[in-house]
Amino acid sequence: MKLEGKCALITGAARGIGLEFARAYLREGARVAIADINFAAADLAASQLGEGAIPIRMDVSEQASIDAAVAEAIERMGRIDILVNNAALFDLAPIVEITRASYDRLFSINVAGTLFTMQAVARHMIARGGGGKIINMASQAGRRGEALVAVYCATKAAVISLTQSAGLDLIKHGINVNAIAPGVVDGDHWDGVDALFAKYEGLPKGEKKRRVGLEVPFGRMGTAQDLTGMAIFLASADSDYVVSQTYNVDGGNWMS
Ligand SMILES: NC(=O)c1ccc[n+]([C@@H]2O[C@H](COP(=O)([O-])OP(=O)(O)OC[C@H]3O[C@@H](n4cnc5c(N)ncnc54)[C@H](O)[C@@H]3O)[C@@H](O)[C@H]2O)c1
Repeated sequence: MKLEGKCALITGAARGIGLEFARAYLREGARVAIADINFAAADLAASQLGEGAIPIRMDVSEQASIDAAVAEAIERMGRIDILVNNAALFDLAPIVEITRASYDRLFSINVAGTLFTMQAVARHMIARGGGGKIINMASQAGRRGEALVAVYCATKAAVISLTQSAGLDLIKHGINVNAIAPGVVDGDHWDGVDALFAKYEGLPKGEKKRRVGLEVPFGRMGTAQDLTGMAIFLASADSDYVVSQTYNVDGGNWMS
């Protein structure tokens, strides 16, 4: 077990990729705080995951909620060794239709949420000594723009950049900061993305998902399980010499 005795905080862990990471970390011997804005779903997920899973109410777009959630995770688990900044929101619109409200919401969750949760947990890790692991969820969307996805792409490019800067700043404290850039991962999130593309591209429901799956060199969309190996690696001592990197786990969609 690669994470025996470790304590992890995963944001947006009530469903999807974050929930699968929680399951994987528990299997590897960690305790996991399941932090989500949807507390009812986090509570249900934690009760299904069983011993070692702790539900926490957290809105990463609110500083007071970040501070309270990090404090609660430390109080209930004793410490945080691993942080996964996974909570994020997606939206889609042509440039001429992007609203200020959508821009503010996405940057506040995807970028400010990542930065200030990272800051709150890094302060705790530095004060405690002994280092830690921080994993940010980027995306292939952060590697290049997309005609209808300007704002989300920009937020994920910012996550890649923040990962580089934070990694360089925090490694002197033994804190590794790295990121994962998934490609297209099937699940509730992509069902919502598919519905938005259907609206703007006039496609029948499910058609965008079918097309993006066919375009993946591996031959299909990813699953949350496809990402857990990288999430365990970046949370474990195996990645101690890995600093500021963003790893593509996308079936071959992007090379860098
Ligand atoms: N699914 C994909 O294809 C894909 C591809 C690339 C990157 N990603 C990234 O991976 C991560 C997880 O994606 P997913 O597909 O599991 O998404 P998802 O939408 O299924 O899950 C996101 C979770 O975050 C929570 N959340 C939303 N706003 C929050 C807030 N303000 N505070 C706390 N929690 C909040 C939601 O309640 C939800 O449980 C995201 O960062 C996403 O951008 C996903």
